[in-house]
Amino acid sequence: MSESKKSATLAINGDSFELPVYSGTAGPDVIDIRKLYAQAGVFTYDPGFTSTASCDSTITFIDGDKGELLHRGYPIDQLAEKSHFLEVCYVLLYGELPSAAQLEDFENRVTRHTMLHEQMMYLFRGFRRDAHPMAIMVGVVGALSAFYHDSTDISDPWQREVASVRMIAKLPTIAAMAYKYSIGQPFVYPRNDIDYASNFLRMCFAVPAEDYEVNPILSRAMDRIFTLHADHEQNASTSTVRLASSSGANPFACIAAGIACLWGPAHGGANQACLEMLREIGTPDRIPEFIARAKDKDDPFRLMGFGHRVYKNFDPRAKVMKQSADEVLDLLGVEDNPTLQVAKDLEAAALADDYFTDKKLFPNVDFYSGIILEAMGFPTSMFTPIFAVSRTVGWISQWKEMIADPQLKIGRPRQLYHGETLRDYVDIEKR
Ligand code: CMC
Repeated sequence: MSESKKSATLAINGDSFELPVYSGTAGPDVIDIRKLYAQAGVFTYDPGFTSTASCDSTITFIDGDKGELLHRGYPIDQLAEKSHFLEVCYVLLYGELPSAAQLEDFENRVTRHTMLHEQMMYLFRGFRRDAHPMAIMVGVVGALSAFYHDSTDISDPWQREVASVRMIAKLPTIAAMAYKYSIGQPFVYPRNDIDYASNFLRMCFAVPAEDYEVNPILSRAMDRIFTLHADHEQNASTSTVRLASSSGANPFACIAAGIACLWGPAHGGANQACLEMLREIGTPDRIPEFIARAKDKDDPFRLMGFGHRVYKNFDPRAKVMKQSADEVLDLLGVEDNPTLQVAKDLEAAALADDYFTDKKLFPNVDFYSGIILEAMGFPTSMFTPIFAVSRTVGWISQWKEMIADPQLKIGRPRQLYHGETLRDYVDIEKR
């Protein structure tokens, strides 16, 4: 962290306290409150972390007003257009664009770890067939720590590296197997002579009885979906991974915690919820009814795929995703897709409505991703697992950064307590 050249003064009941202020390379300054409790005996209160910087990071930067997302300085639209997922993984993990030799070496390392320990097949078979693939992923990824003991010592940089590569390599295999298990088809083993996205599609859609040719258009679209979701600064699941790892827990357990958090409909589960909502709306004439429900304070319904904690102008990922949805449906020859039509009309109706513009609610990355995934043949239950596959590299990059930080401390927030104060226990016969 840079030397503090500025400070803030906090006045509490006539006493004043000087707090250091730090500036990053971009983004708002932060006030260092670490010594506040010791000096002033007060906590700060910020339940949803709306004004709290939880760490010092060099990985991803978001300017929510400008709609800017940078990974190690590189804008997401350039990465989505010119790069590909494994190169983006390299950038996130190591900070720089790789040379051709570095990229080849990284791709080889990832490719050599795509298989799962064969004993893990029995673990899959312990789940009910109708289990949600995210439920299976939380369990199986956590269980990696029971199979790969040689990469759980977080104090060893080499083991951290092996665990990282293992998870980037194995998550697509695990997600595809969770899918195959749910539809009663045999698992399809990874193939290391095809690229990351094609391999994932093949593991999901091939069957042993027939050869499966990956459509390069779909493979490119899949790769772009992975790229667009690769990292997103200190979001809920990433913060979960950081908090879980701050105790020294092993990396597989921490990524499983991230997957569990991602599953919620306010976060990664929004892509499934969004497509289900678009299907429920069904036809454009029902849009006003759903817009009215989203605006009704007494109705918990929200427009899924709309709004973002940080983006208050537009989500740069959503722009690319919308363009990709058009391209994929066009190239697949899907004409008059009713869900896409409802999505486009819903977006237009919401953006013409003061409720949404006043609250700065715009389509987010999940608004259009489900349409592409559905066109590729994925059921809605696979949307969030695909998000988890993509985000694994982000979680790992943030975890590696945190573990390597000499200032690492266990995360331990405090609280504003409003419960009962001290009172005596009452014996049961007297209650
Ligand atoms: N539909 C209708 N109203 C909304 C919506 C929505 N989608 N999102 C926010 N609002 C309203 C909300 O009711 C509140 O109104 P008021 O100020 O009158 O109480 C105001 O906008 C601010 O909402 P908030 O919940 O305080 O904002 P937040 O920053 O805590 O929540 C969010 C952000 C993404 C959780 C929220 O916008 C939401 O629930 N969106 C739908 C779920 C979704 O699409 N999530 C995916 C996010 S992008 C992918 C990812 O990060 O995983």
